[in-house]
Amino acid sequence: MKKLLVTGAAGFIGSNFVAWMLDKYPDYHITVLDKMTYAGNLDNLKRVDNNPRYRFVKGDIADPVAVDNAIAAQGCDTIINFAAESHVDRSITEPDAFIKTDVYGVYVLLEAARSLGVERFLQVSTDEVYGDIVAPNSSHETDMLSPSSPYSASKAGGELVARAYFATYNVPVIITRGSNNYGPYQYPEKLIPLFITNALEDKQLPVYGDGKQIRDWIYVMDHCEGIDVALHRGTPGEIYNVGGGNERYNIDITQLILQLTGKPQSLIKYVTDRPGHDRRYSLDTTKLRGLGWQPRYTFEQAMEETVRWYSDNRDWWQRIKSGEYAEFYNKQYTNR
Ligand code: NAD
Ligand code: DAU
Repeated sequence: MKKLLVTGAAGFIGSNFVAWMLDKYPDYHITVLDKMTYAGNLDNLKRVDNNPRYRFVKGDIADPVAVDNAIAAQGCDTIINFAAESHVDRSITEPDAFIKTDVYGVYVLLEAARSLGVERFLQVSTDEVYGDIVAPNSSHETDMLSPSSPYSASKAGGELVARAYFATYNVPVIITRGSNNYGPYQYPEKLIPLFITNALEDKQLPVYGDGKQIRDWIYVMDHCEGIDVALHRGTPGEIYNVGGGNERYNIDITQLILQLTGKPQSLIKYVTDRPGHDRRYSLDTTKLRGLGWQPRYTFEQAMEETVRWYSDNRDWWQRIKSGEYAEFYNKQYTNR
């Protein structure tokens, strides 16, 4: 494994993963293929720009020509697919792009993997494919898939195509299912960066429903390391949950953000709930821990670092919030 194609790495998790991998493996060469949707941002990759083992190609994973072009220059023995439409709320209003990228795009990449005979194809998936899980249970890799949103259904679809390519064509597919990530470079449409940046601007924090939904939060670098471990030590055909083991109510996270930013509780605004909103996610991570992985960061420490990052990097998110984002925000939250 030396020549990696990492798709969707101009986004949040992929960009952190590329930085992690270039640093950890001095003989790996990484080509990033990214369509540069609203969520793609080359500022996220500035920290690796000068690395001679990194190159960037703009293109759509659902376009076989773009995928071939990205691979042509230096070949590829491993594909790691982060590329996706990733926001549940957007999947509710505009599901089309989700099916195109998260299902058809995965198929196009698998076809490339099949013809190249890659060593590994890692599909980055999500705990949302399990759907709601009632406490005190946790989801295991063998559990039934029961996605509730167009986003999670499209991620489940992508997974199923990948598994079929393992069974039928022996493409060495590994699937990881990550829980809710937070950390630097996360697009401020997601709960934690949205609430931190709104708080820093003295704007309201729109909590959906009663705020008693539970998510299992993982710091992005723990997720990146989990994907690295699954990629190198995992077995083709297998699925690995990557969860932080850190379940919190949304309202508790909201209050913590207000406390860390020194802002008043009066900024909290309860708004109409998200349709099809899963109440709780929870992952059993015994299988990945069996490969020697465990999270390194505590929630308290990593949240403090995350709040500090957004308050030190206002330029990064203010640029985003002044563009296409403003229109999205108005549509999503005005009169809600
Ligand atoms: P993100 O929205 O920040 O980034 C997605 C990236 O994919 C962007 O750079 C975008 O330009 C690119 N992209 C979108 N469509 C593309 C296409 N057709 N071709 C090429 N590039 C395309 O997402 P993220 O939060 O970094 O998530 C990355 C992956 O991890 C996704 O597959 C997501 O489903 C999965 N995941 C995310 C989380 C989370 O909490 N954020 C948790 C578990 C799994
Ligand atoms: O669980 C993994 C998934 O986590 C990933 O697969 C997705 O790509 C990622 O977007 C994330 O999905 P969620 O829907 O859980 O994340 P989001 O940040 O949108 O919402 C987290 C919780 O916060 C959820 O219960 C909805 C709630 N929420 C979210 C927003 C944006 C609010 O209460 N208010 C908000 O404004």
